[in-house]
Amino acid sequence: MKTLFDGARIGSLSLQNRLIRSAVADKTFDGYVDESMIDTYEKLASAGVGAIITGATLVDGEEKLLPIATLCSDSFVPGHRKLVGAVHKYDVRIIAQLAYIGSYTATGDYGGLITLAPSPVPNLLTGTQSREMRLGEIKLIQKKFADAALRAKNAGYDAVEIHCAHSLLLSQFLTPHYNRRTDDYGGPIENRARMITETYFAIRKATGYDFPVWVKINSTDGIDDGIDEDDVMCLCGLLTKAGVEAIEVSGNFTPARFKPGPYFRDAAERIADENNVTVVLTGGNRKFSDMTAMLNTTNVHFFGMARPFIREPKLMERFRREAEI
Ligand SMILES: Cc1cc2nc3c(=O)[nH]c(=O)nc-3n(C[C@H](O)[C@H](O)[C@H](O)COP(=O)(O)O)c2cc1C
Repeated sequence: MKTLFDGARIGSLSLQNRLIRSAVADKTFDGYVDESMIDTYEKLASAGVGAIITGATLVDGEEKLLPIATLCSDSFVPGHRKLVGAVHKYDVRIIAQLAYIGSYTATGDYGGLITLAPSPVPNLLTGTQSREMRLGEIKLIQKKFADAALRAKNAGYDAVEIHCAHSLLLSQFLTPHYNRRTDDYGGPIENRARMITETYFAIRKATGYDFPVWVKINSTDGIDDGIDEDDVMCLCGLLTKAGVEAIEVSGNFTPARFKPGPYFRDAAERIADENNVTVVLTGGNRKFSDMTAMLNTTNVHFFGMARPFIREPKLMERFRREAEI
């Protein structure tokens, strides 16, 4: 029987176990890594989690107004290098999550920041009205992801994860509700996925194929005119073919939130069954015994958790005890 504490590999990365801290945005008012972030990550690492995905890290200087970490210029690299060093002391892998937030930002709070989007559709959660991206801006944002990924590599991160979930900019390109474009980036799913696949290849070009790239996706947008199952399977096929090392399966919180987790299990199982790619299932993972059962009966072998690590700093100790029972 396989256990969650078996050492395991995701592509070229070896992990002490199969439990991953999913991204939790870090508050830092000027975008620089601060001591409190380093302390948080060091505690997670010393408790023995398998890998840590950082909170969303901004790729775009325009979004620097948001109070979260960024890698939008070289000046931010030394702080990240220190953070990575604190985690690597414990032989724990750390993955930089790269993001462009877009209309998920409540712009009123940030001096009227103009956010970009595939189409000028107000965000359903924040009401923020964005401006439709021009082709040049599409290429520019792709380049910013690539530049930030190279900085992440130079800072010593083990991989990057492209944030393509939760109705952030890249996720909006996939979603018919948000993407009304009639050019090569709108319409059929192959077009709606183009922003993501081109961003991925721009990152590969900048960092080389020896630096792993993970992608976090929505398996559902939780709205009627969101992505459907065929879209998700097509996207995962494209990502697998392109060579991503892992797909983290998440989704938008909808009424599913009120069901016991894991919320996106069915989608994750189907993705893992139909694609030769590592799947990380995130959202509502709570019970060690349930994750162990999934590990042994399905092709989903890695489990992400965010809130459990916030609520229970000694979670890994408890899980380790449960593993010994
Ligand atoms: C406070 C908080 C901050 C979060 N920040 C991010 C983030 O920066 N990037 C991201 O992809 N997901 C973020 N998430 C979502 C989590 O990574 C995860 O997908 C979600 O919480 C479901 O997992 P859970 O049930 O284990 O909490 C955040 C969640 C919380 C609670």
